[in-house]
Amino acid sequence: MAILVDRKNSLFTLCTKSSMYQMKADSLGVLLHTYYGKRTENMDFSYLIQKRDHGFSGNPYEAGMDRTYSLDTLPQEYSCFGGGDYRESALAVRDAYGASAVDLRYEGCEILKGKYQIPGLPAFYEENPGQAETLVITMKNERKNILVKLFYGVFEELDLLTRTVSVENCGEEPVYLERVMSLCVDQPCGNWDWMTFYGRHEMERQVSRTAIHHGIQSAGGLRGTSSHQYNPFVILADSKASEIQGSCYGFSLLYSGNFLAEAEKDQFNQTRVLMGIHPGNFRYKLEKGESFYAPEAALVYSDKGFEKMTHVFHRAIRNNLCRGKFKNARRPVLINNWEGTYFDFTGDKLIAMAKDAADMGVELFVMDDGWFGKRDDDNSGLGDWQVNEKKLGCTLQELSEKIHGLGMKFGIWYEPECVSQDSDLYRAHPDWAFQIPGRNPIRSRNQLVLDFSRQDVRDHIFKEMVQVLDKADVDYLKWDFNRSICDVYSAQLPADRQGEVLHRYVLGLYEFLDRLGRRYPDMLIEGCSGGGGRFDAGMLHYTPQIWCSDDTDAIERLEIQYGTSFCYPVSAMGAHVSACPNHQTGRTTPLGTRATVAMAGTFGYELDPAKLTEEEKEEIRKQICRFKEYYELIQRGDYFRLTAPSEERHYAAWEFVSPDQKEALVSVVASKVRTNDPPARVLLRGLKEEGIYLLEGREYTGGALMYGGLPLPEAKVEYQSWEFYLKLKN
Ligand code: DGJ
Repeated sequence: MAILVDRKNSLFTLCTKSSMYQMKADSLGVLLHTYYGKRTENMDFSYLIQKRDHGFSGNPYEAGMDRTYSLDTLPQEYSCFGGGDYRESALAVRDAYGASAVDLRYEGCEILKGKYQIPGLPAFYEENPGQAETLVITMKNERKNILVKLFYGVFEELDLLTRTVSVENCGEEPVYLERVMSLCVDQPCGNWDWMTFYGRHEMERQVSRTAIHHGIQSAGGLRGTSSHQYNPFVILADSKASEIQGSCYGFSLLYSGNFLAEAEKDQFNQTRVLMGIHPGNFRYKLEKGESFYAPEAALVYSDKGFEKMTHVFHRAIRNNLCRGKFKNARRPVLINNWEGTYFDFTGDKLIAMAKDAADMGVELFVMDDGWFGKRDDDNSGLGDWQVNEKKLGCTLQELSEKIHGLGMKFGIWYEPECVSQDSDLYRAHPDWAFQIPGRNPIRSRNQLVLDFSRQDVRDHIFKEMVQVLDKADVDYLKWDFNRSICDVYSAQLPADRQGEVLHRYVLGLYEFLDRLGRRYPDMLIEGCSGGGGRFDAGMLHYTPQIWCSDDTDAIERLEIQYGTSFCYPVSAMGAHVSACPNHQTGRTTPLGTRATVAMAGTFGYELDPAKLTEEEKEEIRKQICRFKEYYELIQRGDYFRLTAPSEERHYAAWEFVSPDQKEALVSVVASKVRTNDPPARVLLRGLKEEGIYLLEGREYTGGALMYGGLPLPEAKVEYQSWEFYLKLKN
């Protein structure tokens, strides 16, 4: 049983394979958080709740004269603003009087078979019936006009918990939601580190680890997307936790808009973590009878460091979040023309590229930005999704037929959410773009953002896309988005609903992607936002892979893909081999190293094959064969980070191990070459200790490779790389 409800003691326990999560509704009906950590037989953790008389901490009226009872100090399951808890809160509701104070009390609970789903929002799902159970806890405030439901999804075998919250207005007057966080976890004691994944365009998801100090630490943003700058994934780690040791909690928000993750250490050294939609510029009006659903948060506890947590997230995202044909089907090795041509191409040039690529074994040709409207640079054309037949020298159907004639699949690029001011669409419908009345819009890449909170805007773009996609045989679509959102104002909503626009935008985006996926079930959709500016679990429900970064330099990718891997599986990370000197850094790396790094992702090419030598073409043929040979191991195996950029070693190493531990692939890149370097070895992981593994004609026990290590060759060339394939003999 994954969910245990002790009605007599109002105790609710959620169990996964190795974690346990517990809450208790106390005598006042307040839902207290009693435990989240390693699974144990001890079933009642309420003995840990300690009450003391603390100065300046208020007491709820029902507590009578008991000055030891204060919401300011107790660990709470879903803290509310205005009830005497001065820490950051999960819920803030402003009522018809203009006051902001909610005091939720337990009303009841129910256990549902299966996993709850959330209207219009992405959520983990059961692969097979019986894989998950749902607990719903209902709470109401004293005035009985706010009904809150806390939903918990328990995937016992998967070791995954999920949460969401719904808020219903059951009063007569409208109320305004000002803060509805998806997750609130109180840790009454412990020394914790706060790990976030920060970055910028072309350097996403860098790992930051700092000790949690008194006060509030946060990560998040108001850019309208999850962003390059912070990722909606954070870790609360024991200060001694490492890859393979110690307690840590991974929290992932399935949301692609403004988000906030906060950790607050309070006056009594208690730590509270909150995660959800960013309250900045958020104000959601609920009329009588209306409900609001918060996005889902996923929680993973590991008692054995980051690696175990990562493996749970990877499996869950691959199997219980991604959907559609390409969740399991092998994804084609692609070539994208962007870095090969940028906007400067013709249909003939693309066909020539495709021919060369097909000859090397590439399976999918992707035509990137510039095939539509007036679009020879990034200053115009977005929104005019009519094929530029003059530029292509043919119709899209003809181009697609020629590419298919080479035995390849065909894909195209879109940026449906944006519009150029220099476009027919903008000239006809300026009010469809986000703009503040009476103010000039803020341009970025010389483009504006369409108001995707509006059904009519989405319907128009969908119709335009369908007209193109229905005519040509399109196997793949790259969904790009190349700016942050500002000027948030929807011409269709009244003043008191403008705080809803960005959330409605995200719902609109999800609705669009869902519609597209259902209409073209065989089409692979890759997400992108100027590289990895919207790389989040929410998007992965609609697009099983996302372009990881516009930085294609293999050495910089080592760090980007390292940070990304803490939550997101290799099968989600778009990674390509590009030309050298690299277009972003000017660095030259061996072709083999570029492939080794791109193979820790979805794998493809992004260059002009006409510029390759015959030797390079031959090498690429071999790379593609190798990738196909190791495909299952790489895409579905367990991923191990064997080194970390922070260790400042001269090499980076990672490993894939098949679920049955019969095969492993170890990749190593020399990130620095030094003369007279000391010999190096890398400790492998995830192997069968007693198993005998064959590696390059020699036999090793798994234990030897894991505890003694694998000696590394000496790098003779800068940025040299190696791949070691191991197979279990017995
Ligand atoms: C940003 C993407 O990340 C690139 O790969 C490319 O598609 C450009 N946009 C095209 O404008």
